Amino acid sequence: GDEDDWSSRPPVVTVMGHVDHGKTKLLDALRHTNVVSREAGGITQHIGAYQIVTELEHNERPITFIDTPGHESFTAMRARGAKVTDIVVLVVAADDGVMPQTVEALNHAQAAEVPIVVAVNKIDKEGANPAKIRQQLTEYGLVAEEYGGDTMFVDVSAINRQGLDDLLTAILLTADASLDLRANTEQDPQGVVIEGKLDKGRGPVATVLVQRGTLRQGDSIVAGDAYGRVRSLLDEHGNKLKEALPARPVQVVGLTSVPRAGDTFLVVEEDRVARQIADRRQARIRNAQNASMRKRISLEDLD
Ligand code: GTP
Ligand code: NA
Ligand code: MG
Repeated sequence: GDEDDWSSRPPVVTVMGHVDHGKTKLLDALRHTNVVSREAGGITQHIGAYQIVTELEHNERPITFIDTPGHESFTAMRARGAKVTDIVVLVVAADDGVMPQTVEALNHAQAAEVPIVVAVNKIDKEGANPAKIRQQLTEYGLVAEEYGGDTMFVDVSAINRQGLDDLLTAILLTADASLDLRANTEQDPQGVVIEGKLDKGRGPVATVLVQRGTLRQGDSIVAGDAYGRVRSLLDEHGNKLKEALPARPVQVVGLTSVPRAGDTFLVVEEDRVARQIADRRQARIRNAQNASMRKRISLEDLD
């Protein structure tokens, strides 16, 4: 592409941490919404993706946030989250401290070589000890700037909406310091499936993150072994979009089946080609399944 086709894109930030340390509440506070109260039992079971526009010192900048569940059974989602992201915000409750999924999340982020910003949450609570969190995390190689390290720690309270601007500033500083946030909007559109589900009214719906190019309504798309024509693109508020630029999470309606989280998607010239690619992938998956089934049967025969 042309040099002109490269433009800056928002950072993609994945929020991770132990169960109930306040990831979703913190995102709610940043978005002025209330997702936590709509979740069954307050437990996040899916990945959510939102773009918010920050306004710091009269400077408007978008950030894409991906919310992940902290429950131990969602290890795979944390691993995927670390792969698609530019920055991890590690949320640690100041009254609870470093817990198993805190460590797991930071391991994924470090393995993916993604910079980490630590949000020490719930500082409003009795027994909150933000200094102890800093001390605990030094054992995992996260040394706070004020202790001579290079990790930014920000004390926040999602409930009292304290420290939110400081957190956004830390994210943008980290983005500017360590990332090349440029994308080519004219390349063939590509990206990754964050979530797939079957919607009663709309059929298969995939939340995808565009990573390069521009995804448009009407595009023929292959996502994993699903394919179809993009009937509509919806943002996090359910508003219809004509197109989605890099780092924009969107819901895609129009696929013939539900793709899996972590699948990549691409756009092709014709519906026929999309179908061919999807058919080939389905056949490959069937073959692999048959092969592993045959292996199981032959192992059982040995017993
Ligand atoms: P999972 O998605 O299930 O891993 O949890 P989560 O990390 O998203 O936590 P969530 O946002 O659901 O918050 C868990 C509980 O902590 C809720 O009852 C919140 O209201 C509460 N909480 C979150 N942030 C704060 C805070 O800053 N202060 C206090 N006091 N409570 C908070
Ligand atoms: Na929760
Ligand atoms: Mg949550």
